[in-house]
This record gives sequence, C-alpha cells and structure tokens, in this order.
Amino acid sequence: MKVAIDSGRCQGHGRCYDLAPALFGEDDEGYGTVLDDGTVPPGREGAARLAALNCPERAIDVTGEA
Ligand code: F3S
Repeated sequence: MKVAIDSGRCQGHGRCYDLAPALFGEDDEGYGTVLDDGTVPPGREGAARLAALNCPERAIDVTGEA
C-alpha cells in the first residue's frame, strides 16, 4: 500500500500528520507531505485509511489496497 498527497488539493488542514504522523509530515507552510516514498509499513494500513477519510479536501490517495 502507498499513500500520496495531491498538492493541488491540499489546503493544509493538517489532519493527515496529526492522525498518522508515521506516514505524513508537514512542509514549512503546513501543507501535508508523505514521508519517504509514501510506502505504508505493515500495521499502518488503518492509519493510512483514517488519514485519507479525514482529509477535508480528499487530497490523499491510497493505492495498492490488499
Ligand atoms: Fe492537506 Fe488534507 Fe493533510 S488538506 S495537510 S492532505 S489533511
């Protein structure tokens, strides 16, 4: 599973890095970023889905669902 943020949609709400700090970080202006290459480690799938569901802009893509 991988996560990605559509930077064209992200408005910096910050729920991704609050809910799943192992997967997301923030840039200097508070916009979300994916850590490393966005690969979701085993056991973090729920956090990835939670972050995606809670992004008000629906800017988070989750791909490679098992
Ligand atoms: Fe951006 Fe959504 Fe996170 S708007 S900062 S990707 S919660």
